Amino acid sequence: MAVSPVAKRGEAHEEREEVDIYSLDDLRGVGEATKEKLASVGIYSLLDLAAASPRELVDAGIDAKKAEELCLQARVLLVSSGFLDSELMTGKEVLERRKSLERITTGCSSLDNLLRGGVETQAVTELVGEYGCGKTQICHALCVTVQLPREKGGLSAGAIYIDTESTFRPERIYEIAKARGLNPDKILEGVVVSEVYNSSHLQLVVRELGRHIEKYKARFVVVDSIISHFRADYVGRENLSERQQKLNATLHRLLRLAEIRNVAVVVTNQVIGDPGAFYGNPTKPSGGHVLAHGTTYRVFLRRGPDDTRVARIMDSPYHPSDLEARFRITEKGVEDADSKR
Ligand SMILES: Nc1ncnc2c1ncn2[C@@H]1O[C@H](COP(=O)(O)OP(=O)(O)OP(=O)(O)O)[C@@H](O)[C@H]1O
Ligand SMILES: [Mg+2]
Repeated sequence: MAVSPVAKRGEAHEEREEVDIYSLDDLRGVGEATKEKLASVGIYSLLDLAAASPRELVDAGIDAKKAEELCLQARVLLVSSGFLDSELMTGKEVLERRKSLERITTGCSSLDNLLRGGVETQAVTELVGEYGCGKTQICHALCVTVQLPREKGGLSAGAIYIDTESTFRPERIYEIAKARGLNPDKILEGVVVSEVYNSSHLQLVVRELGRHIEKYKARFVVVDSIISHFRADYVGRENLSERQQKLNATLHRLLRLAEIRNVAVVVTNQVIGDPGAFYGNPTKPSGGHVLAHGTTYRVFLRRGPDDTRVARIMDSPYHPSDLEARFRITEKGVEDADSKR
């Protein structure tokens, strides 16, 4: 049986079945025809199946009852083999599982403190804020820092950058790597970029993401931005519910991938005018309730005085909501606001 960072999570389980999580061979009732249908929606392994929703299988032409049964079977197999935790856990077991969660440093200690150590695996972190507040810059910095060894705050792993706004800049990765004393060419090889042209393309890329994570040994995935194509492709109130439904499915897929593959996912989001705001901030994150509930953590960014940026965590179950981090965008990526310029 292959061993992955995910595999190690289940080592506490005593009775384990030998299951190949990277194929579909251990599933009952799956022949070549079904395999082909599953492949058409990006499902090639038990891991992919456990991260999919039955709805996606139905879209591939699989009968609804069988779709549910297959998704369930995948989960049961992953649980019995120790790759996934069981459905019911004690608080102690949940705490144990959270120990397998890892963090990636942003390279900026105030931001890391705000995030309680960095960006978490098994979670989707949303960076939201107005243009120029540093969302894309933080994503670039993380593409470099995820490649650092663990003792330096990274995961010695690759990054996947899903670029919807054509703002990925290899030159910037090069600059950050060089300023941090790393080999820029090697770091650039560790970043895989997918340029995405519309919302259907984004859904397709997200569907195939499991395979890419495996192939490139990635532990960090960024979608910059999660919302722009959906907003452009579904204009008008009459299309809003379809847009939200597609956005929701995409976010769910990302969250399940993050959990099952033990990777950190970061998505960026814009702000829109909030006509309902009488006091304070006249903007709000776009994407409505779907984005508000579909991500694990929401980090709000804004411009501060003297070219600084300010980050704050909104609605987190365990981060203090009144804490703010001040940082600056520098050649090293992002750094504390009081670091030398
Ligand atoms: N090498 C660099 N050194 C210092 N500052 C930089 C560097 N590169 C970019 N910046 C600054 O980063 C800011 C842009 O940030 P970023 O692109 O992350 O914004 P964003 O939040 O992604 O905005 P948008 O919503 O438009 O995508 C600009 O103010 C720019 O001056
Ligand atoms: Mg940007």
